[in-house]
Amino acid sequence: MRILSGIQPSGTIHIGNYFGMIKKMVEAQNDGELFAFIASYHALTTVREKELLEKNIFEVAVNFLALGMDPKKSTFWVQSDVKEVLELYWLLSNHTSMGLLERAHSYKDKVARGFQTNHGLFSYPVLMAADILLYDSNIVPVGKDQIQHVEITRDIANSFNNHYKTDILVLPEAKVDEVVATVPGTDGAKMSKSYGNTIDMFGTKKGIKKQVMSVVTDSKELHEVKDYTTCNVYKLCELFMSHDELLALQERYATAGEGYGHFKLSLLEKINEHFEPYAQRRQHLLDNPDEVKDILAFGASKARKIASAKMEVIRNAVGL
Ligand code: ADP
Ligand code: TRP
Repeated sequence: MRILSGIQPSGTIHIGNYFGMIKKMVEAQNDGELFAFIASYHALTTVREKELLEKNIFEVAVNFLALGMDPKKSTFWVQSDVKEVLELYWLLSNHTSMGLLERAHSYKDKVARGFQTNHGLFSYPVLMAADILLYDSNIVPVGKDQIQHVEITRDIANSFNNHYKTDILVLPEAKVDEVVATVPGTDGAKMSKSYGNTIDMFGTKKGIKKQVMSVVTDSKELHEVKDYTTCNVYKLCELFMSHDELLALQERYATAGEGYGHFKLSLLEKINEHFEPYAQRRQHLLDNPDEVKDILAFGASKARKIASAKMEVIRNAVGL
């Protein structure tokens, strides 16, 4: 079974990425053959500054490796180091109807939020399909927002296979963990780099504190009893606390005397505690960028071998 997922280097990764995807990927290394890549081409839809893109790619690589990505066990590379994906993207484009892409939520959402649109953004799901299909992926662990992209991938693969009367493209399945399907941001909406509502994993203690303290709550005061079921702070605590710790926290919500600031400090403590063990490895990698480069080059060479063999077959199927 082959498991594949990608993450865009479009900004500092946050706890939504961690619980929605990175943690699952790291755990998946024990379940099957894991392919994980940094979606550098996809990031061009939002990151236009050369230095920033370079910095983001490096940082995502460092964070993934620090959090447990094992380059010996898995294949870990930068998307743009394996150019075959662009060739497949074009071949698939010819089997992708305009309507399919016009219905994509993430595209419609960006339009609704007033982002400038272009063809890269519109055809984003086709490149994602190429990522998935090039490596014969069976399972794609993603957050809820990406499910539709995996469905689009299946649609494209089906039309290609039907047209050429073949089964060379393997149909993938999205894997979503319902409990952490959508991690809320500090404003209560989906946590996202592009919405400026994130909580970092490895920021400075002060920075993370500022983010946690800015989580939006209602305006109940110390002497009032509070409702944990609708509280963003509680929702975030669910990611970090054990069952018993959560029961104790519910008690605190139900008892007057504490304010949201107190609950936020408990959350902050759990966040710092959770990521502390990874900090040392992360610092080592930050201090040794050549080591990171070598790991990525090694990953790209493993990925390229598979990608070029697959492209041979696909090229042949279409008559090229
Ligand atoms: P962002 O929205 O911050 O730009 P990406 O779109 O790069 O994040 O997402 C990278 C991965 O992390 C995807 O698999 C996505 O589903 C997951 N993810 C992102 N934000 C969240 C969230 N708030 N909750 C759960 N998963 C998330
Ligand atoms: N679109 C994904 C995201 O923003 C990133 C991505 C690109 C991806 N290609 C992929 C995820 C292939 C899974 C499989 O999160």
